[in-house]
This record gives sequence, structure tokens and C-alpha cells, in this order.
Amino acid sequence: MKVNHNATDGDRPFLSDIKEIRRRAREHIQAGAVTEGYRADRNTVLRLLNEALASEIVCVLRYRRHYYTATGIHAQAVAEEFLEHANQELGHADLIAKRITQLGGEPDFDPGSLLTRSHSEYSDADDLLEMIQENLVAERIAIESYSEIIRYLGADDPTSRRMMEEILAAEEEHAEDLRILIQVLGTKGDRRRS
Ligand SMILES: [Fe+2]
Ligand SMILES: [Fe+2]
Repeated sequence: MKVNHNATDGDRPFLSDIKEIRRRAREHIQAGAVTEGYRADRNTVLRLLNEALASEIVCVLRYRRHYYTATGIHAQAVAEEFLEHANQELGHADLIAKRITQLGGEPDFDPGSLLTRSHSEYSDADDLLEMIQENLVAERIAIESYSEIIRYLGADDPTSRRMMEEILAAEEEHAEDLRILIQVLGTKGDRRRS
């Protein structure tokens, strides 16, 4: 990678002294990707990422439960949406767990304390509309809490922030999918009643 050592921001050098960066990189090499230049509070970031991980796992479980138990005339299309979301939440969990490890932390998969760490909730609703609503609520919780995590990370941990931004965009799509499902289901329900 080409680094411009001479880039300047006014009178201040753009990069810290390259010799100092090279010296620091050789220290504590067992810390892997975490260098002395890491500006965020690592313990707080690890806690927040573990809470996001727990939230994703709870979402996987809730969506999968709903995928298997959705019944009724409109169930198939809705259940397929649930399965798609469940698999994407699992993908998010994997991304977050990987980042936690990269930051030198331990991804917490302990099922015993999952719900206390998760922001989103589990739901065993058996009515199709109620399932969709519960999933939409969970997505809206994820959107709020991930937005907050992103604001917290700011410029201090751009890699974690970028990952959370990508996940946030997916949760917003999930919420929109569910909103449309409720709308479509409502329209069909109205027609059936009339
Ligand atoms: Fe997710
Ligand atoms: Fe989601």
C-alpha cells in the first residue's frame, strides 16, 4: 500500500511520525488488529458488539420459530420472508462475532443470558399478523440501538462503525418488508370481510 508520508493538513502532518507507527506496530503484536492507535474504548465497544450479537441471535430464533409456525391462507409468502430474514440475521451475528474476535474480545453465545443481553425480544406469537408486528417491533428496536452504537463509534472505530452501518441498512430493509406485508395483509383482510 502506498502511503503519502508528506501529506499535510495545514502545518500538521497528516500521519503520525511513520517511524513511531512502525515501532508501535512491532510492540504487542499478539494484539493483532488492535494497535495503540485504536481510539475507541475497547471494553465498551466489545460490550456493545456483544449486545448486538445477542440481539441478532434472538432475531434468528424468533424469525425461525415464526417460519415454522406460520399458518393460514397467506402464510407461505410471509414464512418465506421470515426465513430470509432469519438467515440474514445469522449472517449479521457472524459478522459481529468475527469483529469481536478481531478486537481481542470473546463473542458471547451463552444461551442462558441471551435475553438479558439482547435489545430485541423473543416472541412465540401464533397469529400471523401478530408475528409480523412483533418482528417489525424487533427491527425497529435494532434500528434505534444500532444507530446509537454507530453514533457512539463515530470516528474512533471506523471498521466496527462501517459494519454496523451495513447491518443497520439491512434492518431498515427488513422493517420496510414487514411494513409492506402488514399493508398487503390488511388489504386482503378487508377484501375478505367485505
Ligand atoms: Fe440483523
Ligand atoms: Fe433484521
